[in-house]
Amino acid sequence: MQPRLQLRDIGKRFGATVAIERIDLTVAVASVHAVCGENGAGKSTLMNILAGVHLPDRGEIVIDGARVAIPDPAAARRLGIGMVHQHFTLVPSMTVAENTFLGRQPRRFGLLTDVAAMRVRAAALNERYGFGLDVRAPVATLSVGQRQRAEILKALALDSPRILILDEPTAVLTPREADELLRVVRTLRDGGTSVLFITHKLREAIAVSDNVTVIRDGRSILHRPTAGASEAEIAVAMVGRDVVPPQRGAPPVLTTRGGLSLHDVTVTAPGGRRRLDSITLSVRPGEILGIAGVDGNGQSELAEAVAGLLPVQAGRIMLDGRDVTRASARARRDRGLGFIPEDRLDRGLSPGLPVAENLALSLYRAARLARFGVVSLRARDRFARDLLRRFDIRGGGAGVPAGTLSGGNMQKIVVARELARRPKLLLVAQPTRGIDIGAGEFVHRQLLDAAGRDCAILLISSELSEVLSLADRIGVLFGGRLVGVVDRAAATEARIGAMMSTGRPA
Ligand SMILES: Nc1ncnc2c1ncn2[C@@H]1O[C@H](COP(=O)(O)OP(=O)(O)OP(=O)(O)O)[C@@H](O)[C@H]1O
Ligand SMILES: [Mg+2]
Repeated sequence: MQPRLQLRDIGKRFGATVAIERIDLTVAVASVHAVCGENGAGKSTLMNILAGVHLPDRGEIVIDGARVAIPDPAAARRLGIGMVHQHFTLVPSMTVAENTFLGRQPRRFGLLTDVAAMRVRAAALNERYGFGLDVRAPVATLSVGQRQRAEILKALALDSPRILILDEPTAVLTPREADELLRVVRTLRDGGTSVLFITHKLREAIAVSDNVTVIRDGRSILHRPTAGASEAEIAVAMVGRDVVPPQRGAPPVLTTRGGLSLHDVTVTAPGGRRRLDSITLSVRPGEILGIAGVDGNGQSELAEAVAGLLPVQAGRIMLDGRDVTRASARARRDRGLGFIPEDRLDRGLSPGLPVAENLALSLYRAARLARFGVVSLRARDRFARDLLRRFDIRGGGAGVPAGTLSGGNMQKIVVARELARRPKLLLVAQPTRGIDIGAGEFVHRQLLDAAGRDCAILLISSELSEVLSLADRIGVLFGGRLVGVVDRAAATEARIGAMMSTGRPA
């Protein structure tokens, strides 16, 4: 049978950066094709070429046997290509229905769009794919999982989707939402759509795809049917070596005083609902306390309360022997708090500023980059280059705007900056989300090293395996309450999983 899509000898550079050296890719009709590769390998660039966002410098695109040109996103849509981008693109103040047809309503002499018709069509799509969305709801009111489905709805609002591109669609989803999404992907495939599925979660790639292609440094280096492929084989192809996830050793002997403690910390939402309910916990210097739980059970509130971004209504927060309950975020940073937030790109980064500036942000005092209040640009750039090398952050160097880096490399900037401050307490949420398997291994090692230097680490993660391999003790959040804290020696996946789903100590 004729393939749905053939990419032949595609090449693309941005200025001096070669994003795609040479890629060939063939995708069958009615199949799921996983595309894997390290951060910066060229996955999103390739998909953006298919979606009409970028023009290739070289190569051929053949769809259902016909050679095509895709000069802009409208051309991609006419060819039946829909794309869900790596980062959210919906307009929060508009409804799901409005977003679904954004920029695609017929515009004639200022004639108003037919809102009712739009709603009906969006509702029909929603029904057909079983998304369970309220198409009249503003996107701002949706959960992350619902937003992701709304993004897909928008990508599917074509007459006949021949190709659907999903660029890391599950990165921000809970395991249950991710399973839901995989179900939708299979339904689409069974209906004849060819799905290109990009993910760093190799287990997922294997579970959902029929074929897999690995891209490394802008080259396609492995094509194979997924049946019979192992995570290890794909990882080795991606990274070029074996990936050995580090494991926490025996529990440390804690001698230093200080660290972080929370006493009966309560955060109430404006409506009066308790989002954090009497949380009491402590993390000593040199210790890693893991917080497991399904996303949305108070993890974000816990992180923000400790960081000083969310006021607490009751209770006390002690940092390194001082009461910081009412202290500003800035004052807490000055007392040695490092923060790697889960929404790094919104909260941790200025995309328009150079990489060097982003790495140095809020570091000037800590790293002595400034003298007499004046920042030495030479010192800043030296510092930045050192971090780029140590954290293997790729994509054009210290001078380029941070926003031009690949998604995972942007994440690494925030991780590198916060670790470089040598914090006394590191608050880290979802540290490996969106980064590749090799970089994830590296970040885990960095966290273990930081603990070895007596940093107290509060690690919040919805990846149970991450918590189990790094933490000395594991707490579970459920409905804003800390269900219990278990020593790692006594923590099994089954036990913690049960606490996560029932909200009761097990
Ligand atoms: N608009 C742009 N301007 C300059 N360089 C770019 C631009 N877009 C991408 N690049 C560069 O192209 C390379 C490939 O980036 P791409 O986003 O395709 O990687 P990726 O495989 O999707 O990585 P990730 O897993 O981190 O999302 C990177 O080096 C990146 O810095
Ligand atoms: Mg990408």
